[in-house]
Amino acid sequence: MRATAAGAAGEEQSMRAFEVSGGPGAPVVPVERPVPVPAAGQLLVRVKAAALNARDRLIVSGTYSAPVPPGRVPVSDGAGVVAAVGDGVSRFRAGDRVMSSFHPDWLYGPFPGWGELYGVQRDGWLTEYIAVDEQSVVGVPDHLSYEEAATLPCAALTAWSAVSGIGPGDTLLVQGSGGVSVFALQFARLAGARVLATTSSAEKAERLKALGASDVVDYARTPEWGARVRALAGGRGVDLVVEIGGAGTIAQSVDALADGGRISLVGNLASGGGMDLTRFFRRGAALRTVVVGSRSDFERMNRVIGQHRLRPVIDRVFPFAAAPEAFSYFERAAGLGKVVIGL
Ligand SMILES: NC(=O)c1ccc[n+]([C@@H]2O[C@H](COP(=O)([O-])OP(=O)(O)OC[C@H]3O[C@@H](n4cnc5c(N)ncnc54)[C@H](OP(=O)(O)O)[C@@H]3O)[C@@H](O)[C@H]2O)c1
Repeated sequence: MRATAAGAAGEEQSMRAFEVSGGPGAPVVPVERPVPVPAAGQLLVRVKAAALNARDRLIVSGTYSAPVPPGRVPVSDGAGVVAAVGDGVSRFRAGDRVMSSFHPDWLYGPFPGWGELYGVQRDGWLTEYIAVDEQSVVGVPDHLSYEEAATLPCAALTAWSAVSGIGPGDTLLVQGSGGVSVFALQFARLAGARVLATTSSAEKAERLKALGASDVVDYARTPEWGARVRALAGGRGVDLVVEIGGAGTIAQSVDALADGGRISLVGNLASGGGMDLTRFFRRGAALRTVVVGSRSDFERMNRVIGQHRLRPVIDRVFPFAAAPEAFSYFERAAGLGKVVIGL
């Protein structure tokens, strides 16, 4: 680190950050930038950890659904300590531990539209310091490290929203062992539901069982896994599917679903032809799109995480200077759990 928030007046203060490269080679490139100065109502956060999500992969590879300007700092999810506060700040003070909120401007109530997002319209958290509106961050649950906290803003809150309404006696299916799916498994088990999972790896199947999945189906070896899941769910099918494959998996999800069941549409990771609507109607199924969640949803989830001392599953923590390697590792999807960059 080459700067403190309260350096001598006039002293040039710089910090390290990574920007999307926008070209071939490394997905992100290191840069030096001035340490931002918090405006009125803003906090200056010394970032301690950032965590990667599928969207960050798309952003740095130039395949995200919205244009990303050259030189953008990527990554939506981060945690750190408040280093300084601007005028009029009342929610936090220096020394408080905070995390980013995925939708910085969605505080509560119904989804207001996508708005401005980190890594797209705003610089993100792959930086030593960030100045953010005090309304756009939340406190870190006491039992969590910065690395653990950094995994929550996108993946955990998405999973929390996707499994809402699930309880004892319900059966749920999570697809694969990515960030959202593992949190969905954890939250559903906490709620007393039975969880089935799919994965493409025998080793990950064992890990998913250790985390509480009752049964795991290999979707690579069993392309018609919907019928298998339905059979494992007592022949009745599952009450909820957390759909991360999208167009490539949703037809199988409908096969796995109980009559009157629900699909929480989270992602579109698997390419494919979509689904036959007749089968969907016959199932009497409901489809609901998940859009991460509001700050108020995030705070409620964090209270539950605190009460149950739930610990996020971390695969690997890379040092800040190795951020390009962290992206490459994440791209290979070799591990199970979140890929984190520590600062
Ligand atoms: N709507 C929202 O609010 C929201 C929020 C967050 C994420 N998302 C989306 O949700 C998806 C998951 O995000 P993530 O961050 O959890 O991703 P991730 O951590 O990168 O997940 C990767 C894992 O997905 C699994 N996978 C890939 N193709 C699959 C398939 N055909 N069937 C089953 N599993 C498959 C693989 O599991 P195995 O290795 O076990 O096979 C892989 O390891 C992405 O599309 C992302 O854009 C949406």
